[in-house]
Amino acid sequence: MKKIKIGVLISGSGSNLQAIIDATEKGSLLGEVIFVGSDTPNVKGLERAEKHNIESFVVNYKEIITDYKKSEGKSEIPQDFNLSELLKKQKLFDSDKLDKAKFFLESRAIAEEKILKNIEKFEKFDVLALAGFMRIFSPYFIDKINKDKMRIVNIHPALLPSFPGTNGYEDTFNYGCKVGGCTVHFVDYGEDTGPIIGQKCFTINPDDTIETVKAKGLKLEWQLYPECLKLFCEGKENVFKRT
Ligand code: GRF
Repeated sequence: MKKIKIGVLISGSGSNLQAIIDATEKGSLLGEVIFVGSDTPNVKGLERAEKHNIESFVVNYKEIITDYKKSEGKSEIPQDFNLSELLKKQKLFDSDKLDKAKFFLESRAIAEEKILKNIEKFEKFDVLALAGFMRIFSPYFIDKINKDKMRIVNIHPALLPSFPGTNGYEDTFNYGCKVGGCTVHFVDYGEDTGPIIGQKCFTINPDDTIETVKAKGLKLEWQLYPECLKLFCEGKENVFKRT
């Protein structure tokens, strides 16, 4: 069993980050969170990192995207950014949505280069865990992290491949599902489409509400994420991979 180094990216409350930190401190997960990055300043997850003496950084996506819009194509796009190559790789936009794809790829690459610069300062990590990180990475970033193997993972609030996107629990509940759940998966070029590492599910009863469904799901997320990261310690993160 190997002790793993974990980088965590968040956008908000960081309750999954907390679950990961707690598991490492308890010893149920043989690992260490070596940095926390956020796309939003002043969020609770950053306070959690500070409380546990974990270094953190912020790359303010909102500001970067606004500046990119204002600059009308004069923004500082990374030097090694290759639009035609990235357009071929990306899986989010149909080929007739070239403007949207270009906007996404260029604005995100600016932010992603800043994340990469911050990450460089830390030791090499075994896994980059997205924990409530509400941004989609472009192939520009993914390829730079996944040089040797897939090492970006995400937790999603639904039983994928059902209900990808940002509102997994709401979508599950509003559809009338009798079972909900959460998924930890590798990140690929699509939205919540990467190979599944682990899942947990719960029953949705007639008296459940969106709030109770969210609460049930989050509780399971806090168990599932450390369990899935543990597979990286055992070198078993790919055991369920079919694609
Ligand atoms: C979680 O449900 C996660 O699956 C989703 O965002 C929610 C917030 O997570 N993507 P956290 O409290 O910030 O970890």
